[in-house]
Amino acid sequence: MDPVSVGVGPWPGTWPDDDRYDPELLRDGDRRNVVDRYRYWTVEAIVADLDRTRHPLHVAIENWHSDLNIGSIVRTANACNVAAVHVVGNRRWNRRGAMVTDRYLHLRHHATSDDLVAWAAAEALPLLGVDNLPGAVPLEGFALPRDCVLVLGQEGPGLSDPVRAACDVVLSIAQFGSTRSINAAAAGAIAMHAWIVQHA
Ligand SMILES: C[S@@+](CC[C@H](N)C(=O)[O-])C[C@H]1O[C@@H](n2cnc3c(N)ncnc32)[C@H](O)[C@@H]1O
Repeated sequence: MDPVSVGVGPWPGTWPDDDRYDPELLRDGDRRNVVDRYRYWTVEAIVADLDRTRHPLHVAIENWHSDLNIGSIVRTANACNVAAVHVVGNRRWNRRGAMVTDRYLHLRHHATSDDLVAWAAAEALPLLGVDNLPGAVPLEGFALPRDCVLVLGQEGPGLSDPVRAACDVVLSIAQFGSTRSINAAAAGAIAMHAWIVQHA
C-alpha cells in the first residue's frame, strides 16, 4: 500500500479548540498507525487516554541476548493495552518491530531476574511463566488471575532458572507439529489474548 494514502490529510475547515490535538498533525495530516479516535491527537494525549483504561495485565520478557521478538511483543501489548511491558536483562532491544507502539505504553527495565521478582512481590502480583517446560500446565483452560505478570523466555534458552523458580505456575501452549516451540512473540500474543478472552 502507498504509505502516503494511510491515515488522514490536513484537518478540513476550522480547527478544533482542544489541546489534545496536535497543530502539526492538523496542518499536515496524520499518517500514523493509530485507531481513528486518536487521529490528530498528540502522543501525550493518547497515552493519557490509554492510561484511563489500561488492563491490570503486565508482560515481561527476558532479554539476555537482545531478543528480536521484543518489538513484536510490545506491539501486541499495546494492542491489548496492558499495564506495562517489562524487559529483563539487557536494556537495549531492537525497536523496529514495535512500529513506534513503545511510545504509547509503559516500559520498565529490570537489570536482573531478581529485580523483576522483587518488583512483582512488592506489587503483590503473581508471576506466570509462559514456556513449554516439563511440568508446565496447559494455558488452554487455565483460569488466569486478573492482576498478573506473564513472563516470556527468549529464543534458545527459554525462561531462566531464577524466573522459573519464582513463577507460581508455568503455562504451555499446545503444539501439534514437529517443532519444539513457537517463537516468543507468537507465544506472547497467544498468552495475552488468552487473558483478554477471560477478562477484557
Ligand atoms: C523458542 S522458545 C525457547 C525454549 C523452549 N523451552 C524450548 O524447549 O525450545 C522461546 C520462548 O517462547 C515461548 N514459547 C515458545 N513456545 C511455547 C509454547 N509452546 N508454550 C509456551 N511458551 C512458548 C516461551 O516464553 C519461551 O521461553
